[in-house]
Amino acid sequence: MSEKFKAVIIDNQNDKFTREIKEINKTDLKDGNVLVKIDYSSLNYKDALILNNGGKIVRKFPFVPGIDFSGKVVESEDNKFKKDDNVILTGFRVGEAYFGGFSQYAKVDSNFLIKTPKDLDNQKAMMLGTAGFTSLLCAFAVKAKEELLMGEKVKDVLVTGATGGVGSIAVMVLSKMGYDVHAVTGKKDKNDYLKDLGAKNIIDRKEFEGESKLLEKGIWDGVVDTVGGAALTKIFAQTKPGGIVAACGNAGGIKINTTVMPFIIRGVKLWGIDSSGSSIRRREFIWNEASKLVDFTKIKSLTKELSFNDLLETYPKLLKGEYFGRAIVNPNK
Ligand SMILES: NC(=O)c1ccc[n+]([C@@H]2O[C@H](COP(=O)([O-])OP(=O)(O)OC[C@H]3O[C@@H](n4cnc5c(N)ncnc54)[C@H](OP(=O)(O)O)[C@@H]3O)[C@@H](O)[C@H]2O)c1
Repeated sequence: MSEKFKAVIIDNQNDKFTREIKEINKTDLKDGNVLVKIDYSSLNYKDALILNNGGKIVRKFPFVPGIDFSGKVVESEDNKFKKDDNVILTGFRVGEAYFGGFSQYAKVDSNFLIKTPKDLDNQKAMMLGTAGFTSLLCAFAVKAKEELLMGEKVKDVLVTGATGGVGSIAVMVLSKMGYDVHAVTGKKDKNDYLKDLGAKNIIDRKEFEGESKLLEKGIWDGVVDTVGGAALTKIFAQTKPGGIVAACGNAGGIKINTTVMPFIIRGVKLWGIDSSGSSIRRREFIWNEASKLVDFTKIKSLTKELSFNDLLETYPKLLKGEYFGRAIVNPNK
């Protein structure tokens, strides 16, 4: 590799926050033991927060953001990985505490990487990215009601924030698993889109706002919640006995105002999802299931490929809720 390469650099000197595309050196990559030539990264909500002002997440500057990437190994000090292996990274605080994926090269700890499964490629991996990986973790948490807990067949599954990155892939995957997916959205013009992804029924977001009773009519066998707050409170009250709620997000708030009733009267299970800290074993399982459950032709039609310049123009739209679809970042574009 040449010693110099392109990366997005955020900086915060004298209270002036900047983001620029710059040339940096291989010697600037100080962490890790595997050097990767990045093919793709993806744009997540967390990336947009970090690009905006560090999001109170990044503490050291100058810094290379980007919480996920896929690419090819260039050099490895760990014999688990060899030159030209295709690899995927999501989370593990890369792009937050360690230099991340908005770069042509990254150097990371070998314990953070998995090999790209043979039936995927590095572009498909980032079309899913952190959002898709999280959706799959949530979907398998719901499926655990049938398998791990040996419960009855899952039928009705609710997905909140359904047009978002996590929500839309969750709708697709859960419907492929054979469940009746009920998609909650605030976007009235996206009903056809959600139906095309596999939603059976669309519910207005307003129905999950406001106060909830201790227990309401039990409707959901499983829930993928990306919204949190008042919606999650109502979801607990509406989950059927033995149902599983996979909670992964806080797009609508961080506070829940619930009681023990759903848990001790109905045995409702709350399954928290932390994609960033998932074990390597779980990552390998999930990524190997992806090609069976995801319609990549459909996702590709919803995906825009961004250059670094496009990325810097696009992230504010994500923060304002004005971006729709998936965005992958090609550092070589
Ligand atoms: N735990 C993890 O490992 C993990 C991993 C990835 C993401 N996340 C979290 O999951 C959440 C979703 O991520 P994402 O990438 O899918 O974000 P996103 O693309 O911005 O989607 C969020 C969706 O939530 C809905 N929404 C937005 N504001 C809302 C509000 N005030 N009240 C109710 N609904 C609202 C919108 O969908 P509709 O218009 O269709 O309602 C929006 O599209 C975020 O909180 C993110 O931080 C967690």
